[in-house]
Amino acid sequence: MNILLIGSGGREHAIANALVKSPRLKQLFISPGNPGTAQVGANVSLDSSNHDAVRQFCQDHAIDLVAIGPEQLLIDGLSDALVKAGIAVFGPSQAAAQLEGSKGFTKDLCRDNQIPTADYAAFDNASDALAYLRTKSAPIVVKADGVAAGKGVVVAMTLEEAQQAVNAMFAGAFGTAGTQIVIEEFLSGEEASFFAICDGVRAHPFATAQDHKRVGDGDTGPNTGGMGAYSPASIISPALSRQVMGEIIYPTLKAMQARGAPFSGILYAGLMLTKEGPKLIEYNVRFGDPEAQVILPRLEEDLASLMFDCARGELPISPPRFSRHKALTLVMAAQNYPDKPLIGTPIHNLEWAEALADIIITHAGTRLENGQLVAAGGRVLNITASAPTICEAQKKAYAAAQKIDWKEGFYRHDIGWREVLREKV
Ligand code: AMP
Ligand code: GLY
Repeated sequence: MNILLIGSGGREHAIANALVKSPRLKQLFISPGNPGTAQVGANVSLDSSNHDAVRQFCQDHAIDLVAIGPEQLLIDGLSDALVKAGIAVFGPSQAAAQLEGSKGFTKDLCRDNQIPTADYAAFDNASDALAYLRTKSAPIVVKADGVAAGKGVVVAMTLEEAQQAVNAMFAGAFGTAGTQIVIEEFLSGEEASFFAICDGVRAHPFATAQDHKRVGDGDTGPNTGGMGAYSPASIISPALSRQVMGEIIYPTLKAMQARGAPFSGILYAGLMLTKEGPKLIEYNVRFGDPEAQVILPRLEEDLASLMFDCARGELPISPPRFSRHKALTLVMAAQNYPDKPLIGTPIHNLEWAEALADIIITHAGTRLENGQLVAAGGRVLNITASAPTICEAQKKAYAAAQKIDWKEGFYRHDIGWREVLREKV
């Protein structure tokens, strides 16, 4: 099988690492990829927004499967353009990607199908939204409808803060993502991520994870794309997993089918585990980053076959198997991330960390400058450790981080704290 993987982050490096284990793989191309993916496949530079160019590449290189990593390309309909040309794609259609592309779409779908989520109202102008806020109390959550690089959500602790968020969104703070907004009830509980693999009709639970969104130790400071993660999330028991599939995932897939937009690919549910049960916070229509880095090393299946079967609507009857081992990923970020990360700084001794047992390093934002690895983005490296417990995985990941000589890099020192506490109890 020849595969084209699209994306350039740590997630794509993790996907590439899993794909190359497949005995069915002939050639793996990654566009644009990064120095990490170049070690396992061939990086190519395609303009992903030019659907014809991607299709042409697939035809010229006899590509059997395209796997799309980032959400924006799915929301823009890259999958549809390739499927139309007869190419198998792992990743949903544009219509199905609305589950991530429009918060209002997903909230309406939940309401119409009794899928548990926060109560909400949607608005297309500031004065109605402000009038609605006057009937509510804080805390309350204001969200731009569209994707805003993880920044379009304001959990307002006061009504004044909520009003400011409404005004900022309609004033264009998030561009077109904020021309519609959703205001929703604040949910309290513990958050967890639940992944399902779906082929349009059939679905299986894929894995669970928890991440650390805030930049600083003790979950402080601004939100980021994620500073670390671990899998599985033991708070999601087998019974809870069945409940999530039954109350959230299956009803969503049925509703999408009924709308003529069957979902295929990875459906990633961000959940709040409330006293009344699990509630959907949001959907993503792809693997998480850095969640893929902890989930995929645990997968005991041929990912290439799984993706190919899924793309053709032929997901196997039995659910994918995962190792009982736990995995934990530490994100190394560049100084000043998430504000204005310092790029171009040199990274040394990566191979010392890579040589350690049970450690996988994935590249997220790196580039080679005259043979020297340098930081090229905010989140730069991911260190993934596997072990029978999260406590052990955490120790191994931090030991590996200490081998890396990168003066301008930093990481959180408490990744996995929730699970470590649970294991100690
Ligand atoms: P989202 O982009 O929708 O995942 O939101 C980002 C983060 O905002 C979530 O991970 C939660 O921590 C928080 N959040 C979103 N919606 C709610 C809600 N209704 N209640 C409490 N926290 C929320
Ligand atoms: N880590 C969160 C995401 O991938 O959306």
